[in-house]
Amino acid sequence: MAGFETTSSYGFAGRVALVTGGASGIGRTVAARLAASGADVAVLDRDAGAARAVADELGGNATAVAADVTSSQEVNAAVASVEETFGRLDALVCCAGIGGDSLHTADVSDAEWRRVFAVNCDGVFYCNRAVVPGMVERGYGRIVNVASIAGKEGNPMAAAYSASKAAVIGMTKAIGKDLAGTGVLANSIAPAVIETPILEQLSQEHIDYMVSRIPLGRLGRPEEVAALIAFLASEECSFATGACFDISGGRATY
Ligand code: NAI
Repeated sequence: MAGFETTSSYGFAGRVALVTGGASGIGRTVAARLAASGADVAVLDRDAGAARAVADELGGNATAVAADVTSSQEVNAAVASVEETFGRLDALVCCAGIGGDSLHTADVSDAEWRRVFAVNCDGVFYCNRAVVPGMVERGYGRIVNVASIAGKEGNPMAAAYSASKAAVIGMTKAIGKDLAGTGVLANSIAPAVIETPILEQLSQEHIDYMVSRIPLGRLGRPEEVAALIAFLASEECSFATGACFDISGGRATY
């Protein structure tokens, strides 16, 4: 990821960004892009070793934070440590998420439902809640929550995942309105299927269904998603909040 090439830097010099799920896939690519754009980046992941490796690769002031987003205590401690280390926190990008098992509805156990919600819904809320007081106090912040097209349309074999992502879209709408006027903007994004390690959690049937629904007829790349996130995490995003931005190869029409 070192040497990430981008033509748009969106003025991240002097800004501090916290990227959850930053050890892999979209989060890792976002961390690299923001670092290449001049931000100081904290890479948060439950996989401490992988987060450290990404931070080392990014160099500069990049730092790794080991935390499980399903624990509000760990999230609160992680945010406090980033604010203490860097003296500020300007952007939060919530990428930590799991695909859940590919299951028909009748086969989804209580435990599987809770497992998916704990990461994808509770985890995003805990991270958003933890950064808000400091951002509001400093009068500036950008929050980007990674939802999914599944949260708008629903995918078969993915009831828990789809519902958890709909929750992310809904909570972001509420948080955006709640923080209006504070200088803190919160938006979500809805990617269609993107080529990352998360696909290893899904059946081929599930992946084929998702690709078949994309008019551009291919998987998206993490760099394409990172480009949208970089804008939404920047000061140049100034008149959008509570919105859900599509990056779905044409799948979403609303
Ligand atoms: P990935 O599996 O490559 O990366 C997810 C990262 O989140 C991993 O580093 C993992 O260790 C971390 N993570 C998982 N649970 C965690 C927890 N409890 N606490 C802290 N870290 C945790 O996945 P990918 O594809 O980069 O996904 C990123 C986000 O994008 C997820 O929220 C996913 O649902 C969403 N998304 C992905 C799509 C895709 O097709 N890849 C499509 C639409 C949305």
